[in-house]
Amino acid sequence: MERNSEAFGKRINLLILGCMIVLVSLLHFLIPAEPHTLHKIHIVLRKLYFLPPVMAAAMFGLRGAIFTTLVISVVFISHAIFKWPENYLEQANQLGEFVGFWLAGLVSGYLFDRQRSLMESLSDANEETLLALVSALDMREKNTRLHSQRVRDYTLLLADRHGVPKVERNIIGIGALLHDVGKIAVPDHILLKPADLTEEEQAEMRRHPMEGYRLLQRIGFLKGAAEMVYAHHEHYDGNGYPRGLKGDEIPLGARLFMVADVYDAITSSRPYHSPVDYDAAANEIFSKSGSHFDPAVVETFLKIDSKAWLTIAERYQDSGAYPSTSI
Ligand SMILES: [Fe+2]
Repeated sequence: MERNSEAFGKRINLLILGCMIVLVSLLHFLIPAEPHTLHKIHIVLRKLYFLPPVMAAAMFGLRGAIFTTLVISVVFISHAIFKWPENYLEQANQLGEFVGFWLAGLVSGYLFDRQRSLMESLSDANEETLLALVSALDMREKNTRLHSQRVRDYTLLLADRHGVPKVERNIIGIGALLHDVGKIAVPDHILLKPADLTEEEQAEMRRHPMEGYRLLQRIGFLKGAAEMVYAHHEHYDGNGYPRGLKGDEIPLGARLFMVADVYDAITSSRPYHSPVDYDAAANEIFSKSGSHFDPAVVETFLKIDSKAWLTIAERYQDSGAYPSTSI
């Protein structure tokens, strides 16, 4: 779906660019160079040729800018040759403009490409920082990193098919990846306890959504994800924790995450149960629609081909060590 919308966006950009080139060329060709008043308009409109190379640079980078400048060069030069076949002074004047188009195209193309590559580096650095946070928890509670990465991809798959816009999906992906980061604040004797937790220990463990929220909400670009982390153990019927949120009070990202998290928990091998297959997991999720899960999210889940889930599971294989607690 994401690829389709990107391809659609590219086609729209291409259409806008093509229309702009045709419009500028038509204005240039159709507005006469005489009398003097019209010639002045003609000269002003000629400056519009600077727009397509810059627009192409913004839309498609340096290669797009070069190709577009090439197209307008052909149009512009043929106009100069046909309109003033003998007027070499006018042709020299237009040659100056022509050099300007190429400078505008090449410089803006280079700058837009550079900006894109800087943005990509920044995004990679953010991703690595977030993975480092997950790894910090992984060092204490084994295999949480693989679980977090799988759950992030499951949640993103659900969000995509649920029609969540791309900007929101990015936040939801971060929230899913960092959902249990608050467990860093849980003492070892509780986090790593091999036996069942006492009531007091459970209460301590159940503080982790709030601790995660407190940690993340201080960081500007993680505020949206922090809300999701805070709500990742809430149930649709209000029987979850820590706040007992109900229905739409729970952020959509957390409602999507809940289905993804349970799917991962029951299809992965754990010390306290054997993994089940996709069909059994789907039945389990369906049986909790409206209680644990948002029925609309369950409906989306059931529409997704099982192969999509299995592909993600294969991407992040467990090594055999697991979290000791299931809370
Ligand atoms: Fe959790």
